[in-house]
Amino acid sequence: MRALASRASFLAAAILSACSHQQSALAPDGGTARAIYQLFWFFTGVCMAVWLVVMAFMLAAIFRWRGSSPDPMLEPEDASERRISWVVGAGVALTVLILTIFTFASFLTNKSFAEPRPRSVTIKITGHQWWWQVNYEAHRADQTFETANEIHIPVGQPVKLDFESPDVIHSFWVPSLSGKQDLIPGRYTTLTIEADKAGIYRGQCAEFCGIQHAHMAMYVVAQAPREFAQWRVQQLQSATPPHTNQLRRGQQVFQASACAMCHSISGTNAGGRVGPDLTHFGSRMSIASGTAPNTLGNLTGWIADPQRMKPYTRMPSVALTGPDLIAVSQYLESLK
Ligand code: CUA
Repeated sequence: MRALASRASFLAAAILSACSHQQSALAPDGGTARAIYQLFWFFTGVCMAVWLVVMAFMLAAIFRWRGSSPDPMLEPEDASERRISWVVGAGVALTVLILTIFTFASFLTNKSFAEPRPRSVTIKITGHQWWWQVNYEAHRADQTFETANEIHIPVGQPVKLDFESPDVIHSFWVPSLSGKQDLIPGRYTTLTIEADKAGIYRGQCAEFCGIQHAHMAMYVVAQAPREFAQWRVQQLQSATPPHTNQLRRGQQVFQASACAMCHSISGTNAGGRVGPDLTHFGSRMSIASGTAPNTLGNLTGWIADPQRMKPYTRMPSVALTGPDLIAVSQYLESLK
């Protein structure tokens, strides 16, 4: 009974979360998502109307058949045939008309996405098995920086996303802000997103890309332009130097172990390019690409045994003693 109740509450949570504001195509908060939302309801409305008409005809046929109307077989053949061909002809014409309107509506919606608009920020997003590399581009090299699995954008400004994938096909999808866009190895793809309101929007890889496809989420944080500018300035800075003995120990362990072979922390000699850049890791909301909230406890568990939280992840287990593990975790959490 308890199992049933817990399953029911899980189902309810799943259904309700699908309606929540954070990740739902039915709660659009940006330009292209709204256009898709309107198109969806237009299609749904017309299809509902067609269904109601079909049901009405079916009911009418049932009641006519039950009633005492004359048997159609007894009607003169010419009249009944003319009537049938009229009904079939009207049905075909209506179907063609509806499909043409649908095609035209989709075309107009698609066309509106392609309209060139000035874009304030350009971000290169690289899909990896199974995380998102995020590079903020700029005309000057010293204005560029890298982060992972979390994309900050200014509210009310179109942001250009350029996509790349070095391994398999992924698909970028933040339902409240835009439609999907595939990341295809060897091909350049792009998408413009825009948020009308400040908020945190969850996104998810929408193309099966391997065993941890489901754990390939990302967050888009839409901020007021001034807050975004502050965030950008903060991200451009090197990592906070450790200011206690414990944090210094954590940094030493990080640099001396396999961690530094895969991860970069600017301002230190950790310069690995395989995994996410960790320069401001402590300021991010999640770990392992949205798999768990970014807390000291989760992080310690993740470093101790990544395969337990995310089987087949590319992150290996690094043999650390208990105190070293805690020092490394505390150090990473201090990188705000
Ligand atoms: Cu990446 Cu699914």
